[in-house]
Amino acid sequence: MERTFIMIKPDGVRRKLVGEIIGRIEHRNLNIVAMKMLTPTRELAEEHYAVHKGKDFFEGVVDFITSGPVVAMVVEGDNCIKLMRNMMGATNPENASPGTIRGDLTASTRENLIHGSDSPETAVCEIGLWFGKDGMQ
Ligand code: TYD
Ligand code: MG
Repeated sequence: MERTFIMIKPDGVRRKLVGEIIGRIEHRNLNIVAMKMLTPTRELAEEHYAVHKGKDFFEGVVDFITSGPVVAMVVEGDNCIKLMRNMMGATNPENASPGTIRGDLTASTRENLIHGSDSPETAVCEIGLWFGKDGMQ
């Protein structure tokens, strides 16, 4: 059984789309095994997006993700990393298909509602960063 790190970003909370997004995850019959709401510190956000350090959007995405509360989750299920990436839709709004969370609910590259780990290695790293070694804190 695979696990992935999912986060509803501050725009999702501000726009009151938490129920909509969690509903889609539940309707897909994936399991939410840990969940918490918090406003990320700058340190946590910079670590989370460390792979993007030095890129022109790095400061902007860190500013955005620390701008208010997010809903952080550990989601579990067979192939859930790929399933969640497909449900999220592409980063570029022009490529986010209808039927996906981004394709249905946003037209912005930055304010794109949801984060999901992009590989098994990233998932382990991100679950550890946000929920501690056991993935439950
Ligand atoms: P990335 O990991 O490429 O996208 P994804 O969230 O689909 O894995 O980028 C991380 C976040 O950075 C992305 O969700 C939104 C933001 N971002 C920008 O603001 N501008 C950009 O040009 C890119 C590529 C990303
Ligand atoms: Mg990414």
